[in-house]
Amino acid sequence: MASIRILVGSVYGGALLTARALKKNLGQEGHQIIVLENPELEDVTGNDDPILVCTSTTGQGEVPPNLLPFYVRLRDELPQQPGRPFGVIVLGDSSYGDTFCGAGELMEEAFYETSAQKVGDTLRIDALETTDPEIEAEPWVRQWLDQL
Ligand SMILES: Cc1cc2nc3c(=O)[nH]c(=O)nc-3n(C[C@H](O)[C@H](O)[C@H](O)COP(=O)(O)O)c2cc1C
Repeated sequence: MASIRILVGSVYGGALLTARALKKNLGQEGHQIIVLENPELEDVTGNDDPILVCTSTTGQGEVPPNLLPFYVRLRDELPQQPGRPFGVIVLGDSSYGDTFCGAGELMEEAFYETSAQKVGDTLRIDALETTDPEIEAEPWVRQWLDQL
């Protein structure tokens, strides 16, 4: 059973609800899941649990305000964590065109610069296609867990 940390970035609550649903459903099966609603850099550097980013996109392809301080410190301090597994679930809206799901790319780039290792392909959840992001996320996370 895996122990994972979910870093949440959310403006209107969709990504947060998704993270909480994952914790509830996968937690019942014995996985230990910590949902970090206002993550600090130390929530990641103080352990070696796999990291799952679950963020929406705001502004023009930007990271939501609650995740922004973490992102800025991660990018500025680049704490090296070679091989640390991470995955990305990003919510967006394809009507935003070029900035579709941009927050996921920003987080991915920052983690890559810490030498962390991405597991699986990014899951992009399009608000134009679904109003239930947690339903798309759960099977994806099951596969992601299998790849850890
Ligand atoms: C002000 C605003 C700006 C947004 N900017 C983007 C964007 O640049 N790219 C994108 O893919 N989605 C963008 N979105 C769409 C949200 O990411 C999407 O609706 C998401 O499901 C919201 O998740 P949340 O409830 O966790 O905040 C934006 C939404 C709002 C309201």
